[in-house]
Amino acid sequence: MRRAQICIVDDNATWLAKMVRLIQGADLGDAVTYLHPMDALISLRARHPDVLLVDYHMPALNGVEFLTALHAAGVSLRTPVALVAGDVTEPMKLQAWQAGVVEVLSKAAGREEMVLRLRNLIRMAALSPASDSSDTGSPMVARAVIDEGGDERSTLRILERLAALRDENTGKHTERMARYAAVIAAGLGLSPTDCQRLRDAAPLHDLGKIGIPDALLGKPGELSADEWDVMRRHTTIGYELLRDHDSPTLRLGAEIALSHHEHFDGGGYPLGLSGDDIAQSGRIVALADVFDALTTVRPYKSAWLVEQAIDQIVEDSGTHFDPDVVNAFTSSIDELVAIKAHYDADEAYAPLVPLPN
Ligand SMILES: [Fe+2]
Repeated sequence: MRRAQICIVDDNATWLAKMVRLIQGADLGDAVTYLHPMDALISLRARHPDVLLVDYHMPALNGVEFLTALHAAGVSLRTPVALVAGDVTEPMKLQAWQAGVVEVLSKAAGREEMVLRLRNLIRMAALSPASDSSDTGSPMVARAVIDEGGDERSTLRILERLAALRDENTGKHTERMARYAAVIAAGLGLSPTDCQRLRDAAPLHDLGKIGIPDALLGKPGELSADEWDVMRRHTTIGYELLRDHDSPTLRLGAEIALSHHEHFDGGGYPLGLSGDDIAQSGRIVALADVFDALTTVRPYKSAWLVEQAIDQIVEDSGTHFDPDVVNAFTSSIDELVAIKAHYDADEAYAPLVPLPN
């Protein structure tokens, strides 16, 4: 007889190890564990577990948000799902039932109770025909979140988190960069409403990276020409995901995704546009993105001093960057430095070393 496969998504490695021991000890089946919800979202497009256990308290997506993204993508709809939490509350249970969960498990439950409940879930799975999920890549997860509707705030929040999960620098980069972009926009005379919309949409600039293979995103060292071709597609993937949305903020996100790697002199990608043909939002985010990249630690470099980043950006005015955007940037530098200081307060600051060529 085929052994049951039980997938567990939980950011607590100790709990995962405990559950694996419990599942193996009671001979319930094979356990597959995920410490990160994004890994599970990607993996579950191809894997069809018999039972899925999802932790409620996870840092990037909570358990219900994870299930919303998963169900919306049509993944594992027929798999019995249990939500797991150390502090099961009534509102949490209602959220869980609404999300289609069939069981809410307390981490405080004893071993015997946990085994019996898991056994019931496996029986329930045996009564259901195997899930027939189509191949849904992570862009499909985002597409599903977008198509799901719901209010703009929660859609944005989930998409931002999906985007941040693919960012090597944690969500702090997108958050900080979005604030820089809003300050520069204000310096250019954009209205407070437009500045706020830009701040909301800017974190989506690299959303398309969810369509880029992990091996490429995490590759140490130089990319080959072919690999760069694939990497550049994050601009058009993000644009395609967001462009038709009813929400003006998500449509602005599409515009930014498409245009944030264009250069003012036409030397950028994906379209090689120049000057005012590049959306202003993209010209602003391009500078905010580079300023943040230069002044923070990345896996391949230490942080530049702010003064050196300013010199570099001013030098690239008219080539990489729109001169008007550079002027707004230099005029707003005190405010930008204050934002940076706010984020630096809890991050180690590495000494200046030269960037690799
Ligand atoms: Fe990008």
